[in-house]
Amino acid sequence: MSEASERSRPDVTDTPLRVQGLEKQFGGITAVDGATFEVERGTLTGLIGPNGAGKSTTFNLITGMLTPDAGTVTFDGEDITGLTPHRIADRGLVRTFQIARELKEMTVLENMMLAPKGQRGERLWRSVLPVTRASVVEQETELLDRVWETLEFFDIEHLAEEYAGNLSGGQRKLLEMARALLTDPDVLLLDEPFAGVNPTLERRLLEHIHELRDQGYTFLLVEHDMDLIMNNCRHVIVMHQGRILTEGTPAEVKANEDVVEAYLGGDV
Ligand SMILES: Nc1ncnc2c1ncn2[C@@H]1O[C@H](COP(=O)(O)OP(=O)(O)OP(=O)(O)O)[C@@H](O)[C@H]1O
Ligand SMILES: [Mg+2]
Repeated sequence: MSEASERSRPDVTDTPLRVQGLEKQFGGITAVDGATFEVERGTLTGLIGPNGAGKSTTFNLITGMLTPDAGTVTFDGEDITGLTPHRIADRGLVRTFQIARELKEMTVLENMMLAPKGQRGERLWRSVLPVTRASVVEQETELLDRVWETLEFFDIEHLAEEYAGNLSGGQRKLLEMARALLTDPDVLLLDEPFAGVNPTLERRLLEHIHELRDQGYTFLLVEHDMDLIMNNCRHVIVMHQGRILTEGTPAEVKANEDVVEAYLGGDV
């Protein structure tokens, strides 16, 4: 992982992600209904809400997996609404993905080597250099170094030769996060990263997230475990029926009667 100082770039704002009036309909269902919120840099922000509130759809709209019917997504001050997932990831905004079936038949190392690579910054000067055998070898070596460094960070380097399909649920979550980090993102969206993860691994994954946050990474986390959200997030955004019901500190959100009602209102 890079040093914190390397991560601060002059052109970035303290509020990397802004979502304004986001809307998405599926047939007759309004999944996201005018969602507006911001995520501050270097925070672990929670996005919560009952089942069907629109959290995953919001993630898909932000990362370009879905196109919004209305509204904008701004990243580092630029409108990225409607860009392809690839372009959005290239700018440093990524979400984790479940390891697809075909990737389960590959080893952990192969999964890492195949992860999309964002070499923002480097790519510019590389593109003006002649492609020589030496430069290709150098890039491959750099990538391999980075892959090992990331595997070691997540304590899964001993699993490098294991098939991804043989990993436990928790180990797979670590691999998913390791893959996402290889793109060198600024902001990571995590949709239920602890689902199926045992308590020991959950604690470890959380430690990693906090460590990365301290380095300057920004996280937006969807999670159903309320205690986990309240104990780990500085800011919590509550979605309900496609809208932002309220947001604030964990204490503020917990004390909000609308939130209690939304959760008890038969949606869960
Ligand atoms: N591709 C789709 N086609 C049709 N309806 C969809 C689609 N994706 C989501 N929906 C609907 O949109 C609404 C919001 O779904 P979404 O998955 O975003 O909720 P969520 O907050 O992530 O819920 P959960 O906590 O259960 O994961 C739900 O009513 C869901 O059924
Ligand atoms: Mg969801």
